[in-house]
Amino acid sequence: MRELKEINRDLELSNQNMLELLHQHLSLKAEAMEAKKEGRLPILEDQSKMDGEKRITGLKDSPYEEELQEILHTIETAGKRVGSKCLFDFNIALIGFMGAGKSTISRYLKDKLAMEEVDVDAMIVKDQNMAIKDIFAEHGEEYFRKCESEAIIRLKDCRQSVISCGGGAVIREENVTNLKKISRIVLLTAAPETILSRVKTSDERPILNGNMNVEFIKELMAERADYYRKAADIIIETDHKTMNQICEELIQALILLKEQEKK
Ligand code: S3P
Repeated sequence: MRELKEINRDLELSNQNMLELLHQHLSLKAEAMEAKKEGRLPILEDQSKMDGEKRITGLKDSPYEEELQEILHTIETAGKRVGSKCLFDFNIALIGFMGAGKSTISRYLKDKLAMEEVDVDAMIVKDQNMAIKDIFAEHGEEYFRKCESEAIIRLKDCRQSVISCGGGAVIREENVTNLKKISRIVLLTAAPETILSRVKTSDERPILNGNMNVEFIKELMAERADYYRKAADIIIETDHKTMNQICEELIQALILLKEQEKK
């Protein structure tokens, strides 16, 4: 058995080596992201990623397989975060009609870029300890809109976040002003028929309850169209596209926007 003093010296050395390697790994992640941006290459494809299969084979003989899997997962998340910091120094606020895909896209971006996910409706539900439809039923829409504006004000310290806003959030000008201070605003659109197919099984949206038809959606969409377009920094159509296509398009459009802002 070696002496503890000697083992501790090796551990210290191992820590230093590990830190150096981790630093190198994260720097490479940043470099790879810059190269993708520069070459206008797909951002969400990660060629360097060890796929699950290979990773398991590599670790199978280790008595520390479980611990190593955990560490690899953390390193992967850190790498994604470094990448997303290279892409954006702002939050992304998703706006658009109910069912436009804000929450789904927010979740996908969180997964792919390790961004924080903030859902304004969920903040209100937590604050009020009530479902949105119950807030509407008990206190009315005006009260809900007040809660919504207050929740948006509270977003001012968000960093590296994807913020999902409720479909009516940008009708109030103060909300748009407050969102613009901390984010770039992305409008997601979809045809009324697509919206209906996405929302028809839920009764959580009080504005649509009793109005679950294409005509109503078309009308309300037309009423809101100017608000949405005026608030938006970029617009992404979601019909007939995969989640990956939508997110890739969204990221490339934001890169372009940032480049134009720099000029
Ligand atoms: C609303 C949209 C809902 C929610 C509330 C009101 C609207 O959010 O904020 O029911 O006025 O369009 P989603 O767009 O996330 O469904």
